[in-house]
Parts: sequence; structure tokens; C-alpha cells
Amino acid sequence: MNQPAIQSKTTPRVIAIASGKGGVGKTFFSLQLAARSAKQGKRVLLMDADLGLANVDVMLGISASCSIHQVLEGKVHLQDIIVDSGHGFDVLPGGSGLHGLTALAVHQQQLILDEMADLGSNYDLIIIDTAAGIGDNVLYFVSASESALIVLSPDPTSLTDAYALIKVLSQQRDMDHFMVVVNQADEVESQIVFRRLLSVADRYLDVNLDFMGFLPHNKSVRNSIQAQTPLSLNMPSSLDSALDAVLQQPRDLSRSGGLRFFWQHSLHSALNDEQHMEDTTPQALKQGGSR
Ligand SMILES: Nc1ncnc2c1ncn2[C@@H]1O[C@H](COP(=O)(O)OP(=O)(O)OP(=O)(O)O)[C@@H](O)[C@H]1O
Ligand SMILES: [Mg+2]
Repeated sequence: MNQPAIQSKTTPRVIAIASGKGGVGKTFFSLQLAARSAKQGKRVLLMDADLGLANVDVMLGISASCSIHQVLEGKVHLQDIIVDSGHGFDVLPGGSGLHGLTALAVHQQQLILDEMADLGSNYDLIIIDTAAGIGDNVLYFVSASESALIVLSPDPTSLTDAYALIKVLSQQRDMDHFMVVVNQADEVESQIVFRRLLSVADRYLDVNLDFMGFLPHNKSVRNSIQAQTPLSLNMPSSLDSALDAVLQQPRDLSRSGGLRFFWQHSLHSALNDEQHMEDTTPQALKQGGSR
């Protein structure tokens, strides 16, 4: 494998925010995390990795004239599509109504890799807000990141979907550590929800889950999102505690290496997947034995 040998402390930390179930608060948390880290003096890039439907720019009310699609088509450079959030961090806009792009082709990943080569040194932290579900792009973005933050809500389907995501990431992508926040729950409820996830994960998977904190349901959140002002909200201190717990997590240097590594790592996953697909052709199966 052609992975970079040098991993310096100056490479940006890359955190993916994921959930399995949609609508649990990933984008809201991503924005809050980006703003909190920027306030603490870090250079932050928030990447909207939903290639089907823009999330971050819509929530912030910023207009992105281009998206990652134009980069993939070779029309513009990645640097050209980065926009200032107006809150101290940069945004890399996602898609806009293009539902077809469920998996990046290998040549698209290579293109992005080339485009990303120098970008990483501009940032201390890259936050990747993923799409809902456990589709190829979600697995690709999360497994290529240094660490993953799973957002849960007390809804039982959120728990089963988060478990399904953690299971596939641990069994197919070798991830064994996950940070967890519980949204729309008070302290007691969030502990109950987290323990449920922990008990089933402990029983069936070889993973470590770390509880980062909780955010209670707050009527103003919805209105602020509709008004495209989610970062002007006065939020309870539990949110800052959860965000700081995430930001203060020790880095996993075995998975870090910055943006270039991030994309290279993804590329190799894709190549492995392709190889795996080739290996399952009837001919390969025949060559491989009787099964
Ligand atoms: N703590 C909260 N209190 C009240 N409502 C909330 C809270 N967090 C999120 N919401 C509501 O949930 C909605 C979905 O939030 P958000 O868009 O961040 O979720 P998501 O996981 O990113 O969704 P998707 O999977 O569609 O990308 C928000 O529009 C908001 O109305
Ligand atoms: Mg979202």
C-alpha cells in the first residue's frame, strides 16, 4: 500500500460526523463544532460531504456558486469553491439536488486528491458532515477520517441505525473507536440511550465507544435553522461541554496524516473495493475453488 510514511503533528485533524438515521442533528452539530473550534483560534474547514443535497450552506444561508460537482467535472479548482462561513471557519459546499452520485468513482477520487494536495496545510481541523444512511459515500468519508463522531437521538430507530453504521464501519473498514453525542435528550435520557448502544456494541462488536455529552431538545433550534441563524443561538452549557470533549479527544496518530492522507486512504479503500468486486466475477470464483 502506498500510504504516506510521514505523519506530522501539524497535519489537520479530520473528524467525520455521522449517524445512520437522518435528521438527528449532524449538520447542526457540525456547525457548532466548527464555530467552537474556530472561536478557540483554530483554522477550521467544514466540508459538506452530502453530495446529493446541500446541508451546510443552506443552514448558514450562504450562497455557494459552485459545488464539489464542478470540481469533479474538472471545471473549477477546489480552492475556488471554498466559501467563508462568516463565523470564523471555511465551508466546502456539498451537492445540490443531485441524487445520482451515491459513490465517487476512483478517477474522481484521484482528481480530488490532486486538488487537495496543498489544502490541508491551511487548516488545523477538518469537519466532515456526512449524509444520512450507510451508503458508499458515507462509509468512504467516515472510514477515511481520523475519527468519527456518531450523533444519536432518543428515537429507537436512531439507535438501531447508529448500531448498523458502527457495525459496518468496524467489520468492513477496521474502525474501532467512536465518539458519541446524544441530541434532543436531557442528561439522564442521554445516559440511558448511550448505555443501550454501548451494551449491544460491547456484546457483538469489538469497538470502543466514548460518550462526549448531550444536547436537550430546544424549541429555538428549529426556528434558528429556518431563519438560517443557528450559530446565533444561546445554547445550554451542555453543548459546549460536549463540543469541548470532542475537540479535546487525544488524536489518533495511527489514523491521521492530513487531507492528503485522508483522500489517499479513501482511494485505497475504493481500489480494494474494486478488486473485491473483480474477485467475485464467475471466472475469479472458478479460479478460487469450488465455491
Ligand atoms: N437539540 C435540538 N432541539 C430541537 N430540534 C433540533 C435539535 N437538534 C436538531 N433539531 C431539529 O432537527 C432537524 C434536523 O437537524 P440536522 O439537519 O442537523 O440533522 P441531520 O442529521 O444533519 O439531517 P440529515 O440526515 O438530513 O442531513 C433540524 O432542522 C432541527 O429542526
Ligand atoms: Mg445534515
